[in-house]
Amino acid sequence: MARSIVSIINGRPAEGPAAGTVDSPNPSRLTDVVAEVTLADAGTFAGACAAAKRAQPLWADIPAPVRGRTVAAIGRIVEANKEALARLVTRELGKPYPEALGEVQEIIDTCDFFLGEGRRLYGQTVPSEMPDKQLFTFRVPVGTAAVVTAGNFPVAVPSWYVIPALVTGNTVVWKPAEYAAASAMALFELIQAAGLPDGVLNIVFADGPATFGGLEQALQAGTLDKIGFTGSTAVGARIGELAGRHLQSPCLELGGKNPMVVTPDADLELAVEGALFSGFGTAGQRCTSLGTVIVHESVHDEFLAQFAAAASAAAVGDPAQDVLYGPMLDQKFADRFEEYLGWIQPHHKILGSSAVGRITGASPRAGFVGDPDAGLFYHPTIADGVQPDDALFRQETFGPIVSVTTYTSFADAIALANAPGYGLSASIYTNNPREVFGFRRGVSAGMLSVNNSTSGAEAHLPFGGNGKSGNGSRQSGIWVLDQFTRWQSMNWDYSGRLQKAQMDVAEITADLDFRLED
Ligand code: UN1
Repeated sequence: MARSIVSIINGRPAEGPAAGTVDSPNPSRLTDVVAEVTLADAGTFAGACAAAKRAQPLWADIPAPVRGRTVAAIGRIVEANKEALARLVTRELGKPYPEALGEVQEIIDTCDFFLGEGRRLYGQTVPSEMPDKQLFTFRVPVGTAAVVTAGNFPVAVPSWYVIPALVTGNTVVWKPAEYAAASAMALFELIQAAGLPDGVLNIVFADGPATFGGLEQALQAGTLDKIGFTGSTAVGARIGELAGRHLQSPCLELGGKNPMVVTPDADLELAVEGALFSGFGTAGQRCTSLGTVIVHESVHDEFLAQFAAAASAAAVGDPAQDVLYGPMLDQKFADRFEEYLGWIQPHHKILGSSAVGRITGASPRAGFVGDPDAGLFYHPTIADGVQPDDALFRQETFGPIVSVTTYTSFADAIALANAPGYGLSASIYTNNPREVFGFRRGVSAGMLSVNNSTSGAEAHLPFGGNGKSGNGSRQSGIWVLDQFTRWQSMNWDYSGRLQKAQMDVAEITADLDFRLED
């Protein structure tokens, strides 16, 4: 049964004029409508920011350890609802159930990490250069944050923003992807059950233009202090421009064209396993999904044969059953993936399945689990012989396609890994420490894996990218605190007189000409 979903602002259903409705269907059974979503307009979005802004001072006044206890409660409530939330994610986004459970676990891990931050949130006491004077630093909340998230990680990635933002004393307007509305609303309800005051967390459903307009209005009105955005490089660049005009630096987590270098002494079986998981897991729809395998020419044929065999044998289909991957997230992703498939050229050798494109009764795949015609399922595709000028090599291809190219010298492998200009995640399979550290030094990605795939980052390491993958912001662990707090310094002079820094400083005279006698 479809659920009706509306935005919740200041603890109440949004009253502003609706900007239409959209359905959020189950992508593995399109006739199953999971939610009917009422969309808000730009004014309603901006109104949510204003409400969050009004709620912020009181939330910031709640002692940080108490906010930490609320985060602890959120973690426990999510844990108690782990299976139900994972089932909903599988139904609404088509993520295989074990992966959906992993996604929910990522929220719990995030809460476990940040509940202690409520008691830490350390500042420093710093010695002054003068007597009877003390220096201090404090972390202060940024204010109100708008968090705009994609639907490929419909609940974990939002928690990477919302949880640290809340524990550090910010209020939040969360704008989830419309095609992930039911999962988002479920997480919102679980968070609310921890007892957040009205207006501290607000959820707004809106399309892209209304969201952008709402952000613009709120920035103009001074009711928005930070934007967090996970999504495409193109939209991220527009958000960066908008925020920059208001002297803000957003937290941007954008696309990736994540390379995997396979060296001559790599464990090929392990590399194939990693390529299969990161290339086709989540139907290739992670920002950390594998883009191109850069394999040494001496092991290319063997790697390719094993990789193609593994892809051909992989179970694809109903995400509630035991499959490597399920459907595309939503029709819009299926349409875009078809465009990416159009980048295949005659010089590419195609492997991995019985056909390219949508899996249907007329274009079947051996061993398909379930009814392919019911949903948005695509054949896994390996494109070998990809060249650095090819669109397949240069652009992100969100979906179940992996490119393969070869290298001769290690320096070439590094240059190829950097060439597309993204810089999110990169992996190398090698048993040579020189190559490990040469890769670390040479590759510009924010996240590196050694003998592990490009995806599957742990929730307490810095997550983020460089180049076309982001503006250098990092989420997760202690590093995200710099996104949601600003450093404030304070000096306190209790000497009773004006002591001028750099000028009224005592000096100890040193004999700099002093030398030891030979
Ligand atoms: C994303 O695709 O936006 O590292 C996040 C991973 C996951 C998170 C991916 N833990 O693959």
